[in-house]
Amino acid sequence: MHIAVFCSGQGTNLQAIIDAVKQGDIKAELSLVVSDRSDAYALVRARENGIKTVFISPQEFDTRELFEDELLKNLEAEACELIVLAGFMRVLSPSFVKRYKNRILNIHPALLPSFKGAHGIKDALDYGVKITGPTVHFVDEEVDTGPIILQSAVAVRENDTEETLAERIHQQEHILYPQAIKLVVEGKLKIEGRKVTIQ
Ligand code: GRF
Repeated sequence: MHIAVFCSGQGTNLQAIIDAVKQGDIKAELSLVVSDRSDAYALVRARENGIKTVFISPQEFDTRELFEDELLKNLEAEACELIVLAGFMRVLSPSFVKRYKNRILNIHPALLPSFKGAHGIKDALDYGVKITGPTVHFVDEEVDTGPIILQSAVAVRENDTEETLAERIHQQEHILYPQAIKLVVEGKLKIEGRKVTIQ
């Protein structure tokens, strides 16, 4: 299976996925890393590991559809069958998502359906929850709403700041995301409506 990873930032999840592929835990090929930001450190990580990268600048396209046409062109050139969103800060259109139905994964730093959106860690901390943690889910036509694959609990400490909590959530993400990708690659997941079961 050829996998594409979409990133906009640091790429620490990308690194965890690269490591899992290298160790043979995920039996698939990382064929492409896409970024919508030229300065994403994820691009450096990919290049250092010999993975093909492409920077697609949204500013160069008049519409999201045209931007996504460019994405599709690159995905098709590498025959990518699975898309892994790892800190990709753009929302994909419903038509793009339909085209890759149940073949796009995302990781969110809160226990969905709580604290959707771009500030999942801060929102959970501000709300005063005692337990939070990452969620890996399939991407559907809305934001952070798709069927949940795996979640992991992280206890919030009384003296946590957004930074200290983020650090522990990220540690869990780096374990959880490779596990979820492995399940998808091995065809072990059954999706019925919102429910995902491991076969
Ligand atoms: C992670 O916290 C993930 O949950 C969110 O974006 C962040 C990406 O971090 N979707 P990194 O680029 O993988 O370090």
